[in-house]
Amino acid sequence: MLPNPLRTIWLNEKQEVQIINQTLLPHELHVETLHNLEDVFQAIVQMIVRGAPLIGATASYGLWMACRDASEALLDHEIEKAAEYLRSSRPTAVNLFVCIDRMMEAINSAKGKEEKTRIALETAHNIVAEDIEICRMIGVHGLPLIEEISKRKGGETVNILTHCNAGMMGCIRWGTITSPIYQAMEKGIKVHVWVDETRPRNQGSNLTAWELSQHKVPHTLIVDNTGGHLMQHGMVDIVFVGTDRTTRQGDVANKIGTYLKALAAKDNNVPFFVALPSTTIDWTINDGLKEIPIEERNQDEVKYFQGLNSAGVIDKVLICPPTTPAANYGFDVTPARLVSGLITERGICAATENGLTGLFPEMT
Ligand code: MRU
Repeated sequence: MLPNPLRTIWLNEKQEVQIINQTLLPHELHVETLHNLEDVFQAIVQMIVRGAPLIGATASYGLWMACRDASEALLDHEIEKAAEYLRSSRPTAVNLFVCIDRMMEAINSAKGKEEKTRIALETAHNIVAEDIEICRMIGVHGLPLIEEISKRKGGETVNILTHCNAGMMGCIRWGTITSPIYQAMEKGIKVHVWVDETRPRNQGSNLTAWELSQHKVPHTLIVDNTGGHLMQHGMVDIVFVGTDRTTRQGDVANKIGTYLKALAAKDNNVPFFVALPSTTIDWTINDGLKEIPIEERNQDEVKYFQGLNSAGVIDKVLICPPTTPAANYGFDVTPARLVSGLITERGICAATENGLTGLFPEMT
């Protein structure tokens, strides 16, 4: 059964972890149960769950299950092995590593299997609850950006362009870039979202378009190369994207193609904002281009296109000669100089080290 209000990960009455299979949306809303560590690993690798905060949250429940299922004799060894395994699932989104480190610290502070398992579950629940509140606050801080544009346009529709999915499906609830949009809608501000389809996995057409439809947000799907043209013709007021890892100096890794949107935005004086929970900041690195590992995925994701066929069945079709090789880089890095500002749960700051440490002085 789906939780009300809807969220992307929850426990059912049998204390089983439930998720929505994101590879089937928007055609099927299918709930799956993750029974053990291997299920969690596969869900992350196969992108049944995806999006930086949700990957971190799912891995956290995976570590809880690893504690629960570990043998008493090899407890610490098995939990450590589970953490290493989960760390190898996807390389770019830093939330995965931040959440695993936090879980391991909590688990290591407890003694014995029972206490470790209890603390692991508590910590995973806290990670999830915090993400919900963080995303709500990103909305509170991002809303004035939309309000200002609306005022300047005399109440006319504010056109927002987004890439990939930085909505609820990448988080737990609200989403990052969708949170200010939903709050603007609630205040009666007219908004419209240009949704990049986001090849090759189509998180834009499959997930963002679905979420916006659910919330009745006016939106239009575009192919990934349309944004520049729209910006040249004054049809985009602001760009909102998410991020998988943001460096100390404000460089931003996000879904492949984000950088090109930032370049087009700069050339056309369109503000380019990145919404992120602080769990997506990698305080240990500065230079995104040199230091952020970029995931490379299977070439079949590029060579095949998935959709609903005329028989109403989810199917894949080959879109190139079978022997043509394809390159599949999952992310790119947008340098801080192209970012107008970072929207966090504590407010908006410049994409600079001073900007970030101004909001998070404990990281100075
Ligand atoms: O490969 P994905 O679908 O996990 O990539 C997700 C993104 O790039 C999102 O924009 C990002 O994680 C932000 S989610 C709030």
